[in-house]
Amino acid sequence: MRLVLLGPPGAGKGTQAKFIEERLGVPHISTGDLLRGAVQRQTALGQAAEQYMTRGELVPNDVVVEMIAERIKERDCLEGFLLDGFPRNLTQAEVLERMLVSHRAQLDHVVSIRVHPEELIRRLSGRRTCRSCGAMYHVVFNPPKQNERCDRCGGELFQRDDDREDTIRARLAVYDRETAPLHDYYQHRGLLRSIDGEGTAEAVRSRILAVLDGTQ
Ligand code: AP5
Repeated sequence: MRLVLLGPPGAGKGTQAKFIEERLGVPHISTGDLLRGAVQRQTALGQAAEQYMTRGELVPNDVVVEMIAERIKERDCLEGFLLDGFPRNLTQAEVLERMLVSHRAQLDHVVSIRVHPEELIRRLSGRRTCRSCGAMYHVVFNPPKQNERCDRCGGELFQRDDDREDTIRARLAVYDRETAPLHDYYQHRGLLRSIDGEGTAEAVRSRILAVLDGTQ
């Protein structure tokens, strides 16, 4: 199955993608994670991306498109994949469509997760991530048992640079301007499935699974 998860920053794309990856056995490809990895390693791609990410802007299309084109050519993507954070504007959506045609493949669903802006800000400003294993927490909704330490591996928890309130607001504005038009794009292609992203992570997961199982 080939899926795209759409939704504003903090909608829960990363949280839900981990469940879906296990359930469907297809790789979770997060452009944000790939870019943050490149920034951490200070590769040429990471250096090109860093300034945009810190400001909450989109990284230029050519950088991201090349990264995704390489990733979906890998063997583990032959039977499908779950894209989280790509496409993020109309140009990227059109490029993805052309890439899939060249692989004689197509998307099965585009799942859009809807959450109110105040809730997005609450979620992002409390997010913490494990530096070692990438596990995600929230200081209120899903706190670690031990302060600032990962329950799974004991690694140090950190707050993302772009989770400061001013940068969160910039990211939400970019989403409205650049990414929200993709709803119409995928609606016209009959692929869009929109779900309510409020409530517990388990409740949201059930709604997504209902879409994937064809019962909603
Ligand atoms: P990216 O990493 O993709 O960030 P994002 O889209 O802004 O999404 P987030 O990771 O912030 O949120 P999420 O929806 O995954 O929520 P999560 O599950 O973590 O991109 C970062 C940057 O990279 C971009 O700004 C851009 O610069 C660049 N970039 C990436 N892709 C690009 C592209 N294609 N083109 C150009 N540039 C690109 O959850 C958030 C918090 O809420 C967590 O603490 C979680 O525990 C909590 N939570 C989740 N679900 C619930 C729930 N149901 N109830 C309560 N809390 C919840």
